[in-house]
Amino acid sequence: MQAVILAGGYGTRLAPLTYTKAKPMLPLLNKPMICYIIDALPSGTEIIVASNYRNDEIEEYFEENGINAIINNEPQPLGTGGAVKYAEKYIDGTFLVLNSDIISSLNFRKFIQYHMKKEAIVTISLWPVKNVEEFGVVDILSDGRIRKFVEKPSKEQAPSNLINAGAYCMEYEVLDYISPNKFVSMEMDIFPKIIDDGKPFYGYTFNGYWIDVGRFLSYIEATKILLKEKGLKYLVGENCKVSGVLKTSTLGNNCEVGKNALVKNCIVYDNCKIGENVEMENCIIAENCVIEENVRLKDVVVGEEERIEKNAIIENKKIWSKPLPEGYPKKQIGNPLKRRK
Ligand code: GDD
Ligand code: MG
Repeated sequence: MQAVILAGGYGTRLAPLTYTKAKPMLPLLNKPMICYIIDALPSGTEIIVASNYRNDEIEEYFEENGINAIINNEPQPLGTGGAVKYAEKYIDGTFLVLNSDIISSLNFRKFIQYHMKKEAIVTISLWPVKNVEEFGVVDILSDGRIRKFVEKPSKEQAPSNLINAGAYCMEYEVLDYISPNKFVSMEMDIFPKIIDDGKPFYGYTFNGYWIDVGRFLSYIEATKILLKEKGLKYLVGENCKVSGVLKTSTLGNNCEVGKNALVKNCIVYDNCKIGENVEMENCIIAENCVIEENVRLKDVVVGEEERIEKNAIIENKKIWSKPLPEGYPKKQIGNPLKRRK
């Protein structure tokens, strides 16, 4: 069976981190997030990575780490549906489609079995949330059949609190619904069409955890959950020098944390220097940053190669002092909240 991992798009909600790194390569406990999805797949699954923006990073990492996958690069982002169609030549039957910014305890074997038992053409994984507006929401019958799918509805329009958890099991015939070489959204264009056609479209709920890592706070939340799962209070990469205190945080390789510094609920990438007496909470610091002494940071995201001058007090801010990388969109394009005109 093949699994198409949707790893394209610019990850605009995670800028400035995504100015210098592909979203699926952002580290979670010092390992690219895409690896968690790959590790959870049943052995023998053929992996197709649907990518575009910064695809060479994914390719390079897979090569270096012996991860076997087809990297299928779209000439330009084709959307969540267009990217699957673009992988058609590699698909030969029932297949999986997976968002790459989700960490979950979904058991793929049970998920596939459920899909087979229901004789569905599409089965999507579902998860309950309070705020449904940023997700795809379903209207589901008691036997699991979905009769409506609405992408990013208003609170009033949302048919339930069950959202699309970003993993699908599909039959080959779904590919016939998608026009080739065009921007197509699976959620907006294809799912509603399949349901309207009266085809068996099912939802699968599961227990455990589900986190959308495509947003800052949930990225930090995912780190905390994974640390807890592994029984770790924090994680320190290779060749680090830690004199301060780390709480539920991760530190990449070659980092320094000075005396009396407190790093709480933070993700720090490789090669960062955190000075003495720094206090940081709920922060993400990208590679090669220097946070000078006595700095206070709360809810701050610092892009690659930035320096925060000593004694600075910063709250709730994204730090990026350089020009936007060439070609990076000014606003979200992949799967926007509102349909593009
Ligand atoms: N190859 C490719 N090409 N991948 C893409 C493209 C594209 O043009 N656009 C987006 N992706 C990838 C993203 O990298 C991500 O892994 C996945 O497709 C979904 O896109 P997002 O941009 O992250 O969508 P979202 O978070 O707004 O909404 C989606 O995820 C929710 C769950 O987190 C939808 O599937 C919702 O229905 C769902 O509830
Ligand atoms: Mg997302």
